[in-house]
Amino acid sequence: MKGIILAGGLGTRLYPLTKITNKHLLPIYDKPMIYYPLQTLVEAGIEDIMIVTGGNHAGDFLKLLGNGKDFGLKDLNYTYQEGEGGIAAALALTEHFSDSEKVVVILGDNILEKSIKEEVKAFAKQAKGARILLKKVSDPERFGVPALEGKKVVRIEEKPKEPQSPYAVIGVYMYDPSVYEITRTLKPSGRGELEISDVNNAYIQQGTMTWNSIEGWWTDAGTFESLFRASQLVAEKKFQVLGSGLRV
Ligand code: DAU
Repeated sequence: MKGIILAGGLGTRLYPLTKITNKHLLPIYDKPMIYYPLQTLVEAGIEDIMIVTGGNHAGDFLKLLGNGKDFGLKDLNYTYQEGEGGIAAALALTEHFSDSEKVVVILGDNILEKSIKEEVKAFAKQAKGARILLKKVSDPERFGVPALEGKKVVRIEEKPKEPQSPYAVIGVYMYDPSVYEITRTLKPSGRGELEISDVNNAYIQQGTMTWNSIEGWWTDAGTFESLFRASQLVAEKKFQVLGSGLRV
């Protein structure tokens, strides 16, 4: 299985922090943001990874990460997204890299407390389709939100004004190789982007989507509030591990 980190987009919600650097290079407590999704994939046993980046500072990813030696990787693959066509548009750029294997996709601004190893193992055994991960949140209207009938996800609504459940679809998606056929059929949404929720809805309609909810905290880091919160969560975890009990 291959790994893909989507770190394109222009990070306009974090302006002026993103005026002279890429959002995914900003610090989350003591490390650049991109370290966290990369570590999540490596820890789940994925070694063949592509980073999609964009904007004016793409070269800085190479300077920071090189061939991924610090993460125990032999090499890292990079590609470039022009403009901000959406998460599914960034994913579409990785078709040649995927080489007809399944992929685990993680958004470059998503940070998880716990491992996704078990979820990746479960997807490796899944014959076809896709898998999403859900987390209960207090502000579902900021995310892709699943509508549930019993334990079945019947559709996902992107940033709904009236969320059908208290869950967010987190930015970790597992897909079989047919995902690239789906991305070719997408049309831009109201915000002018190819939406990852439309990709997920296509799998739901085919009846091949599975899901589970995750343990531990999860956050994005694409707004000032969530960027700040992400640093707090990472710092708390670090000091808990060190046993000092520091609360920030
Ligand atoms: O964080 C999880 C949420 O991420 C999901 O619940 C939503 O369904 C999903 O649409 C997404 O929502 P956001 O509106 O928060 O996504 P954002 O535009 O902030 O993009 C998240 C990451 O995706 C960003 O850090 C880099 C990557 N991206 C985004 C765009 C728009 C790209 O690589 N290229 C892009 O064109």
